[in-house]
Amino acid sequence: MCSCLLCALYSPVLCFENTLGSIKDWVNMGSRTKNVLNMLFALMILPLAYCSVQPPVVNPDILTQSKNLGECQACKLFVDSFKKGLERTARGKYEGGDAAWEEEKLKLSYKRSEMRLIDIQEGLCKEGKNSIQCHHMAEKAEEFIETWWAQDPDESADLYNFICIEKMQVCCPKHHFGKDCTPCPGDHDKLCSGNGKCRGDGTRKGNGTCLCDIGYTGDNCDQCMTGYYLSYKDDTKMLCSPCHVSCMGGCRAGSQKDCVACKPGFTFDSDEGCLDINECDDVNKCSKDQFCLNSIGSFTCMSCDKSCDTCHGDGPDMCRKCAKGYSKKGEFCIADREDEDQSEKLTTTRYMTYVGLLIATGILLPRSTSLGSIVGAMVLSYILGAEYYCMINGHTGLVDLRHFDLARMFHT
Ligand SMILES: *[C@@H]1O[C@H](CO)[C@@H](O)[C@H](O)[C@H]1NC(C)=O
Repeated sequence: MCSCLLCALYSPVLCFENTLGSIKDWVNMGSRTKNVLNMLFALMILPLAYCSVQPPVVNPDILTQSKNLGECQACKLFVDSFKKGLERTARGKYEGGDAAWEEEKLKLSYKRSEMRLIDIQEGLCKEGKNSIQCHHMAEKAEEFIETWWAQDPDESADLYNFICIEKMQVCCPKHHFGKDCTPCPGDHDKLCSGNGKCRGDGTRKGNGTCLCDIGYTGDNCDQCMTGYYLSYKDDTKMLCSPCHVSCMGGCRAGSQKDCVACKPGFTFDSDEGCLDINECDDVNKCSKDQFCLNSIGSFTCMSCDKSCDTCHGDGPDMCRKCAKGYSKKGEFCIADREDEDQSEKLTTTRYMTYVGLLIATGILLPRSTSLGSIVGAMVLSYILGAEYYCMINGHTGLVDLRHFDLARMFHT
């Protein structure tokens, strides 16, 4: 919407620039006059600021990114990244070396060189998310990595054990938890009945109690949670499955007929069990400018399209009655005058500028009649220029010529 305004303001200004130069020489203006002219320009530019004020844009990544990774996970991320680096540089070597034996020698010396370590470290934590935490861990692990590198390690040796468990002490071996890596209680093949994990498993955190998977509860995760029912059980395995969505407070099996009770939004039927209530059958559920959308267990009131006054669905083809300024054309409600809103706003802003300019001229006029009349003439030309520009581009001007037959005017 600002493009017309911008052009309307600048086209006359640009045109006047040359003329202005000669007028300047002619009048030999004093500094106060220049100030007044500056003020006039400021007034011309003012409405542009009005147009360019926009709400600040927030990068949604900033809000979701910093989900805190545990230290052990960060260490794992770092070790994985380091291993990738080892792979990446596995076949690298110093440049040069002509003969085959020379090449082989160079390859060997690169394998354990400081240079390869640097090559690996340069590529660390580059891929994927959480790179900040990975980098942080890489910094803390640097001295241990250097020790490990200096020991001429077997590359297949478990770097994770060495760095994350032994040196950094942020992780524990599998099925161990807590500061001292205590073994998780119970049978390690079937921790928490196979339906959960021991709190802090593999890390230096937690207290070893069971953290049950969704649907399971109990100290050993061997019961079904409310809203779940036992769907399978043998000597080694039990399975809890969710009740039907219409159930409240539990069920005997998975269908809507097995509910202990029905949720709000459902009604009990002796044959069919819990059935969805269609709230939209009640025509007064939503307000006049909304339509009703039934969903399982609930309903939503949605606003009608802006072209509708009342409607029975979404879109300009679902109106019962058209909104003010719209009229029915076939299925649709079509705007009588599409861009009225925008051009009205634009016109107001433009007129505000004119008033500002005229007031400025009025202040100047009694001080110096000749200068006042020059500025007055400029202001007038400016206004006429801007209006002419808007007119030929089909925007509302002081005189609305959009529906005027220009051709006929020039023929007579
Ligand atoms: C273990 O930790 C969990 C949550 O961190 C807590 O709810 C639970 O009470 C703790 N159990 C014991 C025995 O300390």
